Amino acid sequence: MKQLRVLVLLHPDLLPPESSKGYSEQEINVWKTEYDVVSTLRAAGHEVRPLGVHDELRPIRDAIDAFKPDVVFTLLEQFHGEAIYDQNVVSYLELLRVPYTGCNPRGLMLARGKDLSKTLVHYHRIPVPAFAVFPKRRKVKRPARLALPLIVKSVNEDASYGISQASVVDTDDKLIERVNFIHERIGTAAIAEQYIEGREIYVGILGNERLLVLPVWELQFQNMAEGDWHIATEKVKHDPDYQERRGIRHGPAKDLAPELTARIQRMAKRIYRTLELDGYARIDFRLAADGTPYFLEANPNPEIAESQEFATAARHVGIGYPDLLQRIVASAIRRGGPSAAAG
Ligand SMILES: Nc1ncnc2c1ncn2[C@@H]1O[C@H](COP(=O)(O)OP(=O)(O)O)[C@@H](O)[C@H]1O
Ligand SMILES: [Mg+2]
Repeated sequence: MKQLRVLVLLHPDLLPPESSKGYSEQEINVWKTEYDVVSTLRAAGHEVRPLGVHDELRPIRDAIDAFKPDVVFTLLEQFHGEAIYDQNVVSYLELLRVPYTGCNPRGLMLARGKDLSKTLVHYHRIPVPAFAVFPKRRKVKRPARLALPLIVKSVNEDASYGISQASVVDTDDKLIERVNFIHERIGTAAIAEQYIEGREIYVGILGNERLLVLPVWELQFQNMAEGDWHIATEKVKHDPDYQERRGIRHGPAKDLAPELTARIQRMAKRIYRTLELDGYARIDFRLAADGTPYFLEANPNPEIAESQEFATAARHVGIGYPDLLQRIVASAIRRGGPSAAAG
């Protein structure tokens, strides 16, 4: 591919240094995605300009006018500290008619709500956990159809924000307590879902119209404390020491029948299309003991540090990290103008 001008949007606190030399693993962990993307695109010969964005659109417009990027690489996960504004920033890029990586605004919106996305996916007969939503300032009463244990989460936060061992509740009192915690501490409505005992399965997908489905991947919990739930809590996702201690590993899902693997990949594709995703995304499932894959959530623009699930699964099928980023950039440029997803 020819040399491109790439404007990378990221959180100002996550501006990566020129080199990671001299930083501890904990420090690197904070900005490893930003570092990996910027340094890898640079090494591939592109002209890369990182731009920290917090709560102003103006700098984006100025950078686009001055730098005239061929493509904007979006690593921004919030605006004004709000995760749900990611779709608005991307909408702004569409209005400026500049190609950008990752998902279109409509897909971001449909995938965001853990209730809305499940409702849409369920219509296509894909198994989803039963759930109920508890808005703020309403009495919390468990519907009779919803059996304990349940897992309580924010309806629209991600990155396991607010998820800990206490998220899984097995009594009505604990349910109320945890819903209140989400309302007060996370500040959003809560969703309580049927807890699916089973394996944690991820499927990465790349593309706009033609899709490339990555191998079925698994997050393994090899050394959890007795009685702990095997779920991706904040610590499981973000704390390297905890990951080490508790044997949190990811890799290809082992011992799945070929038909089951194919079924999960087909489901992931159907979900990607149903939620009008493009760019790249990771679809998450819980695989119950009876072999039923339950859709948990879709993550448009998932984490793409080189060591993380998406990039590792790509490498497993021969797509090295520079190649992966190149494909993400190329598909952004191919998509061009306004997102075609709505059509
Ligand atoms: N219904 C469920 N049954 C079992 N585990 C769940 C369920 N919902 C969520 N989890 C666990 O909690 C983790 C985080 O939930 P998720 O819905 O993916 O939220 P986030 O957007 O914060 O990642 C999942 O990866 C999974 O381990
Ligand atoms: Mg998740």
